[in-house]
Order: sequence, then structure tokens, then C-alpha cells
Amino acid sequence: MHHFDRNDAGELFAEGVPFTTIAREVGTPCYIYSAATLRRHARVFRDPFPEGTVTAFSVKALSNLAVLSLLRQEGFGADVVSGGELMRALQAGMAPSQIVFSGVGKTTDELRAALQAGILQFNVESVAELRMLSEVAVAEGVDAPVALRINPDVDAETHPGISTGKADDKFGIPWDRALEAYGLARDLPGIDPSGLDLHIGSQITSLAPFERAANRAADLVRTLREHNFNITRLDLGGGLGVPYAAGDVPPPPSDYAKTLVAITNDLGVQLILEPGRVIAGNAGMLLTQVVLTKTQTNKSFVVVDAGMNDLMRPALYGARHHLHEIIQKDGEASPFALVGPICESTDQFTPEAELHSPEAGDLLAFGTAGAYGAVQASQYNSRPLVPEVLVDGDAFHVIRSRPTMDEILAHEKIPPHLRHDGT
Ligand code: LLP
Repeated sequence: MHHFDRNDAGELFAEGVPFTTIAREVGTPCYIYSAATLRRHARVFRDPFPEGTVTAFSVKALSNLAVLSLLRQEGFGADVVSGGELMRALQAGMAPSQIVFSGVGKTTDELRAALQAGILQFNVESVAELRMLSEVAVAEGVDAPVALRINPDVDAETHPGISTGKADDKFGIPWDRALEAYGLARDLPGIDPSGLDLHIGSQITSLAPFERAANRAADLVRTLREHNFNITRLDLGGGLGVPYAAGDVPPPPSDYAKTLVAITNDLGVQLILEPGRVIAGNAGMLLTQVVLTKTQTNKSFVVVDAGMNDLMRPALYGARHHLHEIIQKDGEASPFALVGPICESTDQFTPEAELHSPEAGDLLAFGTAGAYGAVQASQYNSRPLVPEVLVDGDAFHVIRSRPTMDEILAHEKIPPHLRHDGT
């Protein structure tokens, strides 16, 4: 459910604001998020879980400070995977007691910063990381609250690029070495092994993989307790999918919650969840403008001003984002290859977009672009990162502005002997 709708004249709005207004005042391309949608998703996700559950928004999905601040108001914490994301969560005012730190390659500097912040939990992904964390914690004179991320060897039944829970994925500690790793964690100074963590993948559209993983986790909590580990927190990761196209029917968050709560209820643990896409995906669109149309020998193209550097998912995963014409036109639609201006053949959003006589200046928007959209953008082809806009009711706010080329070039330095003007 989202708050992007058409008015009676068929023009697309984000809440009370026409896309045409944002195009005029901010320019294209730009990301547009709906605050009402983010709030709604946050509540629908959070409400069915018992009190005390930590809903840690996966910052990697959409990391803008304004969005994190909105989610903090909704009672969310953060799942971070770098020192930079930790800084964002703290700057947005998220409580350290609601922040977990995941990732396979945390550096000692990042571990130290998170220890100093006093976060809820380190999701440790290897024995090597456990030893590093122990050393840093001892030096800091504190105990690190640790959950070991165990790889449950469950097939998430999703795109191979975003599946993380199978035995040979790079993530987590192998299932059959869990007890041994917890034994080491107990022996190491500065480590408090009090949690268990797993995450099996992203864009998962059936409950079965979640169910299998949660059952495995619950069994492991019981086994660990038999071995006198005091496990008080269970982090079940993120991964709930969203509908990208008609026909995608992911389970509703209420069913997801019911399933996980039924499996874990009798353990008496504090649940932690790390949703990203399900909160942000349908809350954002990428607004773009047709630059020109062209016809090759047998094929017609529409070239828009957004490129694969702005929305990478189609080029990276073959993902399809539903396309919206901002002003509806009458007549028959016909198929066009919809491409960006980047010098790569993979810079194609969809091979067959059904459009109504497109022409230069027409506005289009890619749907379900709130998650893994702006955060994965790059400045390839020296195209500045596109602005982000948050619509809240009848108002809109530019929450990240478009950098100028001068600002971008200010980071680059030409050594004196290479300067053309002898300065
Ligand atoms: N927790 C951990 C440890 C993760 O690695 C991820 C996502 C999440 C939580 C959040 O998962 P979500 O609820 O958003 O599915 N760039 C890809 C998605 C990569 C997901 C990486 N990990 C895409 O555009 O589809």
C-alpha cells in the first residue's frame, strides 16, 4: 500500500504534491519518497510483534538522514554495516540500544566506534572477527554484546545475487561449527555471547524459507542453552519481499510476524528484525524525463535522463521497475526499449515499455525504487548524484541536494607538474 495516486485528470501525485511540481522546482532525475507510506509500512511491520522487539531498519536500503529520522520517530532502530551507516543512525537520533552492526568485514576502527557508541549487538560473522573484536573490546575496557551470525544453510529461493544463507555463501559461520564458535566466544575476554543472528537473503516472496530458518535458529538457541550459554536475543535478519510487478504476491507483514512469533515465542528471547526493502521499496519512485526518441533499423528507443548510475537494479539484477506515465495520454500504447544516456548497453531499464506516443519532455517514474535505489547510485559518466525529495502531505522537502560539478571536482587534485596553466 502506498500514497502515489492519480487525480481525476489522470495526473500522478505523491500524497498532495504533483510530480510535475517537483520536476519543475527540483529538476529531473530525482528520487521522491512518500512520508505517509514510510510511516504506514513502519507501523504495519512493527505492530504485530511483541513489545520489546527491536525493529532495526536496514540502513543500506535507504540511508538518507531524513528518512532515518522519520523511522526513529516510528520507534525504529538501525541495522548498520559500516562506520558510515553507524554515524548516520546516530545522527538521526537512533538510540544505540536499538542499533545492531552486521557485515563480513568490519574493521578495527569501525568496531571501536560501535563499542564507544554502546550499540545493542555486534553480529559477528567469523572467528577472525571474534578475535579482532575481543582485542578492541579489551583495549576499550568493555564487554562487547555479541550475536554470532550462523549460516542456516537455507535456500531463500530468491535471485542468486541477493541470497545469503546457503552453506557456501560468504556470510556467517557455518552451521556445524556454531557450538565451537560459541565456545571460543565464551573463552575470549571482552566478549559476551548473548545473541544469535541469521539473515538468509532479500526479496523473499514466500514464508517457507523464513519458517525453515527460524526453526533452525530456535533449535540452536535450545542447544546453546543446554550448553549453558545465556542467549537472550534472537536476530532473524530482514528479507521480506515487495511486489515489483503485477503478479508478485509477497506475504503480508502480519503473516510473516505471526509465523516468526509462533516459532520463537516460548524461547523468551528479545526478537530483533532487520527489514529494509519492505519498509522503503514502495515508498519511493525515481522521476525522470524523456530526452529524445529514436528509431534504429527495427527497434524504437526512448532515451530518458536517468541512467543505470542512478538506478542500478535493472542492469545489476535484471530487475524490472514498473513504469508510470506522470500525465496519462489517450490512445494506443506501443512498445519501446527504455534506456538511459550512459555509454553501456546494459543501461537499459526495460526492453519493452508500453508508452503512449512518448516525446521529449514527457515525465515518467520508476516505481518501487525507494529501496536500493539512491543508495546504490554512482557518479559514473560524471553525472552528479540525483537529489532526494521527501513528500509529507502537501509539502515537499529536498532531503539531499544535487551536487554541482564544482563541488564534485573540488575533491580531485592535479599535481603541480601536470597542471596545464602552471599554477
Ligand atoms: N540484514 C542483513 C544482514 C542484510 O544483508 C540485508 C540486506 C538486510 C538485513 C535487509 O534486507 P531486506 O529486508 O532489504 O531484504 N541490492 C539488492 C539487495 C541487497 C540486500 C543486501 N542485504 C537489491 O537491490 O535487490
